[in-house]
Amino acid sequence: MYRTNTCGALRLSDAGQTVTLAGWIQRIRKMGGMTFVDLRDRYGITQLVFSDDLDPELCGKANNELGREFVLQATGRVAERTSKNQNLPTGDIEVLVERYTILNRSEIPPFTIEEETDGGDDLRMKYRYLDLRRECVRKNLELRHRMTMEVRRYLDAQGFLEVETPMLIGSTPEGARDFVVPSRMNPGQFYALPQSPQTLKQLLMVSGFDRYFQIVKCFRDEDLRADRQPEFTQIDCEMSFVEQDDIIRLFEGMARHIFKTLRGIELPEFRRMTWQDAMKYYGSDKPDTRFGMRFVELADVLKGQGFSVFDNAAYIGGICAPGAAGYTRKQLDQLTEFVKRPQIGAKGMVYARVEADGQVKSSVDKFYPQEVLQQLKQAMNAQPGDLILILSGEDTAKTRKQLCELRLEMGNQLGLRDKNTFSCLWVVDFPMFEWSEEEGRLMAMHHPFTHPKNEDIALLDSNPAAVRADAYDMVINGVEVGGGSIRIHDPKLQARMFEILGFTPEKAQEQFGFLRNAFKYGAPPHGGLAYGRARWVSLLAGLDSIRDCIAFPKNNSGRDVMLDAPACLDPKQLDELSLRVDLPQGE
Ligand code: AMO
Repeated sequence: MYRTNTCGALRLSDAGQTVTLAGWIQRIRKMGGMTFVDLRDRYGITQLVFSDDLDPELCGKANNELGREFVLQATGRVAERTSKNQNLPTGDIEVLVERYTILNRSEIPPFTIEEETDGGDDLRMKYRYLDLRRECVRKNLELRHRMTMEVRRYLDAQGFLEVETPMLIGSTPEGARDFVVPSRMNPGQFYALPQSPQTLKQLLMVSGFDRYFQIVKCFRDEDLRADRQPEFTQIDCEMSFVEQDDIIRLFEGMARHIFKTLRGIELPEFRRMTWQDAMKYYGSDKPDTRFGMRFVELADVLKGQGFSVFDNAAYIGGICAPGAAGYTRKQLDQLTEFVKRPQIGAKGMVYARVEADGQVKSSVDKFYPQEVLQQLKQAMNAQPGDLILILSGEDTAKTRKQLCELRLEMGNQLGLRDKNTFSCLWVVDFPMFEWSEEEGRLMAMHHPFTHPKNEDIALLDSNPAAVRADAYDMVINGVEVGGGSIRIHDPKLQARMFEILGFTPEKAQEQFGFLRNAFKYGAPPHGGLAYGRARWVSLLAGLDSIRDCIAFPKNNSGRDVMLDAPACLDPKQLDELSLRVDLPQGE
């Protein structure tokens, strides 16, 4: 038997027992005639003691040969500690070692495997298996596991069936690029890895499965950010004979179940906000509603007073930062620099402080008499001590986006984005289409199978850009944790949708023939949603990046630095896959 207990199990009530533990040596400290070893496994840390008094020979040997991260098996007696460690569950006891076996030796690890490590991001990713030994990383994966269990429990109780769909499929149109896999047996042909099982889960509805879910890998070849990975896991669901409200109710219930079981938090009913309002008041389709500072449109107040920047703007919007009138000139200059960074792209920022006596002092005083500034104060509902920040621009959508970044930054600076406060909402009534500059045509904002709102179907011919969809996103603290829609189940409407999206009937048949054929045989009304699992876990754990709750994530260039992938293939393998491109001589 390798061990009688784990390294997290022993308590004062075990004192006097002889135990055998096995684990990794986290730390070795020598103090006088004693050597203390912290032995670590998944379950915790237990202090081992080698004592000169007990066995000088054993103690000397241990001093000589033990090293960090050695795999050790030690047997000894559990004893009460004289100086207890309140921070460790096992901190009341130690094990007085009587004999030990080194099960494996370790080279000196490239970084310290402790809560506070000296290893930088790159190094830790290269040696991720060592990084995963750290409790702070491991506990994110434990939370991920527990969340998955709760999701399965909840969905099973609601009558959902877990069905697996294939990974080697044809291209799915979710808006990102596909990762493709060459087929050896079909030279020159490729599978695509699913961006999501969207069409397959719809087919399962045609098959009568009624309530489907799958915890499933998805692959998207898109630019990466803190909340995006090229491969990620969705909690993917679909239901038949439902309307938007049914889906919203069920998945709000799931969110509540997750928060209750994993964080002990009872969530209130989620707010619902239309996409229009989200853009108008927050400049984002995933607003962080933990704090106010909603946008106020100021054209009526500030235009026509001779300040050309505002006079020529299509949009002027302000936010009111509560209690921030004391911002120094330097802080305001830094904010201006912040909005002028290329990633944000504003040309400048106007500010106005509301003084204690109610007077308003602004950076554009010379254009605006106090009377207008008072109107500004009123429009912003600003109080003495508040700071008003204003951006303007020729493009309303772009300026709102910039103001959104400024609002979030102010939220950070004023400490209004507490990771232990959760503000959940549904963003509903997304537009059906968005204009793609790159493609020069309308694209489906969600995907081509999304049902337009019944009352907007008439607009499909006259004004498609104004059509709203039965699509919804769940947003928590400014993170889109999930999204879905009611699907089109009427083949004629689906055909019309493909047409608007610029598919010829032949192209639509070629790409989606399987779905169109299936829909000839009785597709039920259906809809669904998919959650991003890592986004959930990182919210629940308060992480800055979803990478921290993925065992082996990719870096921002889509590389796995540990496996050194992607990599070139052997010419022989390329030949087998009919992928060899013979370059002309000299190239
Ligand atoms: P959507 O594309 O909105 O919808 O994706 C659903 C959810 O998946 C998560 N997500 C990601 N997480 C990590 N890395 C990524 N690259 C990434 N991309 C998306 C997000 C998002 O809300 N088939 C539809 C769902 C449906 O209509 O039922 C779909 O995939 O949390």
